[in-house]
Amino acid sequence: MRAAVLRNVGDKTLDVCDDVDLIDPEPNDVVVDITHTGVCHSDLSVMNGTIPQTVPLILGHEGAGVVAEVGDAVTSVSPGDHVIAVWSPPCGTCVYCLRHKSPNLCVDLQFGIMLRRQFRQGDVEVASMCGVGTWAERTLVPEQAVVRIDASIPLDTAALVGCGVMTGVGAALNTAKVAPGSSVVVFGVGGVGVSAIQGARVAGAAEIVAVDRNLAKLAVARSFGATEAVLPEELDAAKAEVNDGQGFDYALECIGHPATMRAAFDAVRRGGTCCIVGVGRMEEQVSFSAFEFFFAEKNLVGSYYGGADVRVDFHRMLRLAETGRLDLAGMIDRRLRLEDINDGIEALQTGDVVRQIVEL
Ligand code: APR
Ligand code: ZN
Repeated sequence: MRAAVLRNVGDKTLDVCDDVDLIDPEPNDVVVDITHTGVCHSDLSVMNGTIPQTVPLILGHEGAGVVAEVGDAVTSVSPGDHVIAVWSPPCGTCVYCLRHKSPNLCVDLQFGIMLRRQFRQGDVEVASMCGVGTWAERTLVPEQAVVRIDASIPLDTAALVGCGVMTGVGAALNTAKVAPGSSVVVFGVGGVGVSAIQGARVAGAAEIVAVDRNLAKLAVARSFGATEAVLPEELDAAKAEVNDGQGFDYALECIGHPATMRAAFDAVRRGGTCCIVGVGRMEEQVSFSAFEFFFAEKNLVGSYYGGADVRVDFHRMLRLAETGRLDLAGMIDRRLRLEDINDGIEALQTGDVVRQIVEL
């Protein structure tokens, strides 16, 4: 089958091959024909080493498709079912899944499937991003790594729910818990930032200010519900307009640079919440004075997969889309074929796109 393979960390392009195979499914596995998959910044972050993964590797972690085959022990899905892939599947039994009610933080399955390498190219074992690998016509994952959806739901927008939408909307609703009538600033207007803006709107925020260095993205932010959109150098003026100039109630950082993480923290008022959604490099640091946490009493919180229980929250996202409260279709601003994936990666680098969808 066709798949896009990353040979080395640091490579600027992927090899689109047509001789990739899957291993045979084990009893708990599901084989999925991927029909649509998004191009998320985290894919690029694997290519440039920000997110560590083993190579050779098949990228893609935001995808949807149709179940082709299931192992003997699989009970939750059958061939023909439509599903969204989950890049951090809950095992359902560990302390995070049960005691801490944080199934997004369960790594029992994820670490195992990342090491398994379900793809082959000739004699070479090929790994997959987070054990998912949706930039391939077909993938194989444990049944916990798919969520069944109604066959009437378009699979292109469903794919977006698998990462960007869940991450951004979930950060606003589940992690930051944006309150009605509050003020929110969102840093970065990519797929994740647009989702965070929409999440803040769903939560009933009174002011939603978007910040992006790409001028074209400011109009995009407004079209998804930002009440104001500014370049980074204009943020101080926008901040002066809310909460008597004290700062925003919430900041959602959807870029992943130390400087924007720090700027997000500085943008919130005393007692406000700064939620870091973006993924930076492990060796990079963000600094805080030892005094400011005491004095400003700000909350600094990370958000992983939008704090979601995917088994419940994917359906919540789809219901919000179905009832017109989230615009998922409008987020897709470019459609690609797998052969054009390198064009897609280039477009992502310039920050001009919200979400590109690869149709397989
Ligand atoms: N200041 C302001 N805006 C910036 C800056 C900056 N220093 N750097 C980048 N941006 C903007 C880009 O112009 C772009 O509009 O941030 C946006 C990022 O969008 P995408 O590249 O599409 O990223 P996305 O897929 O939304 O992911 C954002 O969330 O899940 C994580 O790993 C992901 O860290 C990444 C972040
Ligand atoms: Zn992603």
